[in-house]
Amino acid sequence: MDAHLAVKIVHMSSATLLIIAIVIGLLTLYVGTQDNQPNPKLRKVFMALQHLSLLLIILTGVSLLVMNEFQVKPWFYAKMVLFLVVISSLIKAFKKDASIALAQRRAGMFIGVVALIALFSLVIIKPVFS
Ligand code: HEM
Repeated sequence: MDAHLAVKIVHMSSATLLIIAIVIGLLTLYVGTQDNQPNPKLRKVFMALQHLSLLLIILTGVSLLVMNEFQVKPWFYAKMVLFLVVISSLIKAFKKDASIALAQRRAGMFIGVVALIALFSLVIIKPVFS
């Protein structure tokens, strides 16, 4: 197996890990919540998985960019914007601040999930703009 394929497989597996992390993140906002705040035990699991998957996605994504000599398709830029939306909504939804209500966190998470679905649609459809 060549290095490019190996890195791509790790990249896609990390994306799958991110989906699992997000499902756990959603559970923290709906199951076992305390004082209008996310489930404290599940939150730790979510945080660990989220950091691991995002770190792997970024490291392998940058490696793929270097291997491809930065030759990208036009939809790649949309993918980057959506990726930033996912990260910023996760940061907002899980900020350690007791004044943020669960309803606000759920709204933040909703935006993140919609952006992630759009991102996956992009990498599957690979739209051609011309
Ligand atoms: C949640 C975020 C991400 C998801 C779900 C994701 C998913 C994917 C998938 C499924 C592919 C394979 C597409 C195919 O060839 O069929 C891919 C390719 C690629 N990704 Fe990502 N990605 C994400 C974030 C990133 C980031 C942050 C970067 C760059 C820093 C990146 C850079 C790349 C590159 C360069 C390729 C092209 C590989 C190639 O075909 O040679 N990705 N991504």
